[in-house]
Order: sequence, then structure tokens, then C-alpha cells
Amino acid sequence: MDQSNRVSSLKQRLAGRNLYLIGMMGCGKSSTGPHLADLLGYAFIDSDQLIEKVSGRSIPEIFQEDGEIEFRNLEKQVLNVIGQRHSLVVATGGGLVTIPENWGILHQGIVIWIDPGRERLLARIQADAGKRPLLETQSPVTSFDELHTARQQFYAEADMHLHVGEVSEKEVAMKIIESLPSILSDPAAPGAPQTIEE
Ligand code: S3P
Repeated sequence: MDQSNRVSSLKQRLAGRNLYLIGMMGCGKSSTGPHLADLLGYAFIDSDQLIEKVSGRSIPEIFQEDGEIEFRNLEKQVLNVIGQRHSLVVATGGGLVTIPENWGILHQGIVIWIDPGRERLLARIQADAGKRPLLETQSPVTSFDELHTARQQFYAEADMHLHVGEVSEKEVAMKIIESLPSILSDPAAPGAPQTIEE
């Protein structure tokens, strides 16, 4: 089967289900998502960008003015709106998975955990310092490590766990396309995502 037949057979099996990209800040959800959407002919949405658009404020401003709880409320509302649409690739904020109600929406689609591992995540986060309110602390690395550890259990709810190395976002997107058929024909047991080594 050539690439375009593979993609159209995959689209048929997805039947419009959304693809939700989850993972820690810096894992590449927002940069991989548009490539994945392009390959599938899906639209791309970034939940953080939508929050900024509807609230008219940046994420750091929302955290600073209203705090994390209010941010999570906005995030939940935005996800509910996204969940009413179909044929989307959605880049989610790194902490969206920690709110149990959000899983009602996520599990209507296919959930993909992008996981470059601690060292790569730290390097990327340090490269764009200032954009991550939860790491604006005395010790950003300690704060990162605490979140990273506490969130593993939530990310592990994904349908696919993709370990990524030093590859381009386009290659990550292609790997997801390549791995999706096995997820669709052999859904992992709850709590046991299918692990893909890139
Ligand atoms: C957050 C991650 C951010 C953003 C907000 C909170 C988190 O998104 O939603 O700063 O709790 O990990 P990215 O994962 O896109 O950086």
C-alpha cells in the first residue's frame, strides 16, 4: 500500500476521532501537531492558544492574575468546546491530564503521549525560559522534576506512549501515523498504553 492509501485507510478507521497529544511542557506537542494534522488532512488546535484567544490574555498573565485553579477552569471549558468537534489534532497543555473530568473528553479520541525523556525536556524548557508559570520558582529544575514525577500516572492513561529521541517533529508525526493502525486494531488495556520506541 502506498502512503496515500495508508493514510486514507487510517482516516477511515479513525472515523473522525480527534487525536489528543499529551505530555510534559516542552515535549513537542505544539510543534508536532501541525505536521500530524497535515499528514491526515485534519485541522490543528492548540488548547493553550485557544485559551489565550478566548480570554484575551497570555497564559503567564492568567496564572499571575487569577492563579492555576482559574486557568484549569478555562482549560476545561476550552477542552469541552474542542471535544464537540471532530477530525482534529489537539495539542494539550501539559497539566490538562491532571483533571479527571478532562478524561471524559480525551477518551472519546485517541490519546498520544509524546515523551522525549527528562534530559531533552529540561534542555528545551531552559531554552525558552519565562513562558512556563509553573517553573517560575526558586528552583525550576526541582519544580519540573516534581511535576514530571507526579504526572507520569496521568500520561500513562494514554493509548500510545511514544518515546522520542533526537528527531524532527515531522518524523515524530510520521511515526505516529505509522503506529496508529496497531493502536486501532489492538487497543491497549486501560492503564497500559502501547509503547512505541522511535
Ligand atoms: C502547563 C503547561 C503549559 C500551559 C501552562 C500549564 C502545565 O502548556 O498549559 O503553562 O501545567 O504543565 P505546554 O505543555 O504547552 O507548555
